[in-house]
Amino acid sequence: MIIAVDGPTASGKGTIAKALAAHFALPHLDTGMLYRAVGRQVQLSGGDPDNADDALAACAFPDALLDDDILRSEEVGGFASRVSVHPGVRQALYERQRAFALQPGGAVLDGRDIGTVIAPDAQVKLFITASVAERARRRWLEMQSRGNDVALADIERDIAARDARDINRADAPLMAAPDALVLDTTFFGREQAIEAAIEAVLTARNERPDLRIRPFDDTLARHFHDINAEWIESMFRLEPTDREVLENPREKIIVPGGDILFVEAPGLGIVGTCALQRTGPGAFELTKMGVCENARGMKAGEFLLEAVIRRAKELGATRLYLLTNHKCAAAIHLYEKLGFVHDAEIMADYGARYERCDVAMLYKGN
Ligand code: DC
Repeated sequence: MIIAVDGPTASGKGTIAKALAAHFALPHLDTGMLYRAVGRQVQLSGGDPDNADDALAACAFPDALLDDDILRSEEVGGFASRVSVHPGVRQALYERQRAFALQPGGAVLDGRDIGTVIAPDAQVKLFITASVAERARRRWLEMQSRGNDVALADIERDIAARDARDINRADAPLMAAPDALVLDTTFFGREQAIEAAIEAVLTARNERPDLRIRPFDDTLARHFHDINAEWIESMFRLEPTDREVLENPREKIIVPGGDILFVEAPGLGIVGTCALQRTGPGAFELTKMGVCENARGMKAGEFLLEAVIRRAKELGATRLYLLTNHKCAAAIHLYEKLGFVHDAEIMADYGARYERCDVAMLYKGN
């Protein structure tokens, strides 16, 4: 699951992103630190942050710079805002952010353009905001606590200027994605804001207290094998292509850019699994979807399939399809319910992959 947290300076988006990462056990990237590092590097090399070439050269900053506390200063924040208007800088930092967002299991990223540019496919998008006066007050309190005596009016002026630059820049301006949930924290305390954000994520994930999606790790590989081998052998026979994938999930699915998800039920453990096998640029075969007998009636299959479709979108799938057999009627019904349609072209292109294939479906969305 990718969670995008955007918002203006001092809106509390960093605090909220960190809290969400801790709550949902996801890695977190404060993308503002990347722009701050570029701003600082320009400063160190005596360059001009408004000059596109100087700013682009600074994108090759050493990683160690990211740990320097000075990056958090107001002065470096101002430099960061100035270097961030250059499209070359944004492009140079894009891959790093995108790769972070796409790691297996997902991530939380906070910044200005996460929901719009870096991860438009994020499952949850929050846009955190608060009035300029309130943001200035929070920043002022924070600086006072660090013994930094700055006039409130000066901070308010700086924040307004930074907002104007971030909002008005031509490339990836600061704005809420159309599908973002806007959370105005002007009248919220810290805990209240975090609670509202967690609530928003749970709602967006369509969370079920009795089921949980688990990302792939090697300790779960045996469940991937056993669950699938059992149902396939009960209805068909394991074909060489099945064995290859079930016995080498990391090599055959994960390494080529696909993914495997699991569904877990408390007290029962892993009760289902499904893979996305990358078969070409943007093409993913949804395959090896199996749910254990003991989880019947829990709608675990539907919960898992929804998660796998979301994951396929995160991975950039433009052609998501599956191959099956008419005997798997219940599964086919579920695929239809969630947006797959029967497709002759998929059958012609891929149907020969399995002896048992007589049904081919393409995801058209709902
Ligand atoms: O969030 P922050 O104050 O650390 O960000 C510093 C500056 O970096 C901000 O004024 C604009 C820029 N920035 C950006 O353009 N895009 C991002 N995703 C994050 C930060």
